[in-house]
This record gives sequence, structure tokens and C-alpha cells, in this order.
Amino acid sequence: MNINILRFDSVESTNTEAVRHARLGADEGLCIVARQQSAGRGRQGRVWISAKDAGLYFSIVLRPRFDPRSFPLITLMAGVAGYDLLREFGITPDIKWVNDLLVNDKKIGGVLAESTETPQGTAVICGIGVNLTSGSFPPEIAASATSVEAETGKRVAAEELCSALVRYLTYFYEILSGDDGTAEVLGHWRGRSSYFSDKPVRVTLQNDIFEGTTDGLEENGALRVKTLDGSVTIVQAGDVERLRRR
Ligand code: BTN
Repeated sequence: MNINILRFDSVESTNTEAVRHARLGADEGLCIVARQQSAGRGRQGRVWISAKDAGLYFSIVLRPRFDPRSFPLITLMAGVAGYDLLREFGITPDIKWVNDLLVNDKKIGGVLAESTETPQGTAVICGIGVNLTSGSFPPEIAASATSVEAETGKRVAAEELCSALVRYLTYFYEILSGDDGTAEVLGHWRGRSSYFSDKPVRVTLQNDIFEGTTDGLEENGALRVKTLDGSVTIVQAGDVERLRRR
């Protein structure tokens, strides 16, 4: 993949900017990085707090040539890349299905992948945010979020994180695009996430909440959750929260 990085001082959202470029015909590998986002977005319509130089705000344009049924695995692939990125900086995170990078249950990063139709075919925009410092967390997230600085005592520049992230993303995206890509990425995710199996969780869907124990992933990355009656519910989209074992 040919990487081309466009850097901005401020954008609404690097994902929105990347969607715009993709619709204008940007090639796979275009990356948008900003020092701040005025309307950073998280999953399920949430806001991603994006103060100036307090995080890495990064999006890449992908033009996957594999089966669209495997597109959801791009989120998992980016979670694996984010995991290895943090490891390189001395942090051992966990990945909470589907896209949360956590350290001791506190969120340090997240992935927002979105697909968009373009004249060149479907593009997938893969956005990744990593908290670099905690100083500008608003009170409502201060207890549930952490940063590279809080975890390591070191201030790392977004630039440094960015080039390592590009390295991991291109590596795992190539794996995902290969012959056995789905199984390989699922294997990598499994090896990095305590949520893969046997984790008691509460799942919040659009119209339902239920509890159960995780039971692996489907081929398309959906989470299997076993409920008390032994049946398995397949979660394609929803919020997962860890439950303490009683
Ligand atoms: C989540 O955990 O809900 C996903 C967070 C994704 C945040 C990143 S920051 C860069 C990119 N631009 C956005 O507006 N969102 C993603």
C-alpha cells in the first residue's frame, strides 16, 4: 500500500475528512492526521474528545478487494494494530469487543471504521484515536479513560505514534487481505483480547439488554455470547460491558 499522509492543524473529524477525500477518488493509503478535532466521533454517535495535541487522531482510506462480508474484520484488524502499537510504547492493553483499547478497564483508544460508496467502489475509512495525555479529559470521562502519558509517565508525540501505527496497520491489513486473512486476523485478535471467550458480560443492543459469557467470534467478527439457558446469541453491533464474576 502506498502511504500518503495529510496533516491538519484542526479538522471536524479525520474520518469525515477521509470520507470526503475517498469520494473525490483518493487512493488506498491516504491518511488524515490532525492535531485536534472539533467534532471527533466515536461509535454509536458518541463524541470523541479531541483536544489539541492530547491524542493521536488518525484515519486511513482503505479500498478492500476482499469479500464485503469480511469488512467488519477491519475494525478487529485495527484493534490488533492498536494493541501492538501500545505494546511498542510499553503498555499492555486489552481489546474489548469490538473496538476498545483498554488499560485496567480504562479506555486509552478506539477504532471507528465506516464504509462509503465512491466512484471507484466501496471505501472503508478506518479511524483510530489514542489518548496521549489525560490533562484535558472532561470530568465525565476522567475516571474511565487513561492515556499513554498516564500509563508510562512519558509524553509521546503524536507523530511518533503515527508512524508506528501506519507500520502495524499496513502489516495487519495485508494479512487480512491475504488468502486466509479472516482466520489469521481472528487468531491475532483472540491472542490479544481477554474478551474472546469465557468473559462474563452485559450486552446492550438497540432494543435489548442481556447478560452472558463470551464464546468466541463468528467468521465475520461478530461476538458469540452464551446465555444462562445455554443458547448462543450472535452480536453484530452493540455495547459490551464486563461483569464481575460472583
Ligand atoms: C470509539 O471508541 O467509539 C471509537 C473512537 C474513534 C476515534 C477516532 S479519532 C480519529 C477518528 N476520527 C474520528 O472522528 N473518530 C476516529
